[in-house]
Amino acid sequence: MRKILLVYYSFEGNTEYAANIAAKCADMDVQRLIPIKEPPKKGFGKFFWGGKSVMMKEMPDLEPQEYSAADYDTIILGFPVWASSYPPAIATFLRDNDLTGKNIYVIACSAGGDARKALTKLAAKLRDSSVKTSLSLQDPLKNQADADKKIPAFIKTIV
Ligand SMILES: Cc1cc2nc3c(=O)[nH]c(=O)nc-3n(C[C@H](O)[C@H](O)[C@H](O)COP(=O)(O)O)c2cc1C
Repeated sequence: MRKILLVYYSFEGNTEYAANIAAKCADMDVQRLIPIKEPPKKGFGKFFWGGKSVMMKEMPDLEPQEYSAADYDTIILGFPVWASSYPPAIATFLRDNDLTGKNIYVIACSAGGDARKALTKLAAKLRDSSVKTSLSLQDPLKNQADADKKIPAFIKTIV
């Protein structure tokens, strides 16, 4: 039985929603990444702050994590697309964890439903390892029926 770790970051709850469904579909440990400092949640400032943090390739310090990727051979990364890329909390995680040789899967949430650019950037970052398959979701909190259907089907292909 492969050990699975779902590692996710969620700013506004969409990826959290997706992660909660995924966690019910198979035996896995779940690690939420929580930056110690977060952008403002309201107003346009969040896009400015968040977008800038992606452009500047920021890697925010994260709160202590319960699980370590080193103990798992399958990692599911869950994140919202930010400025057509993966968000800074994921950048920190990728800096701090060697995913070489692991089976990597992605659940990406976005407003537009197209995570291809973010996945290309993630692939460039991973270099020595590659994403096996990915699921792209459009704001799961707004499109719950779609997410409720697609996530279990996706997890089924992993286990
Ligand atoms: C700073 C910031 C940048 C974003 N950039 C994009 C983007 O480039 N493309 C897109 O489709 N959605 C973008 N979004 C929307 C989120 O990816 C989308 O709403 C996602 O479902 C949010 O997930 P979360 O609730 O887990 O944070 C952005 C949101 C924020 C806050």
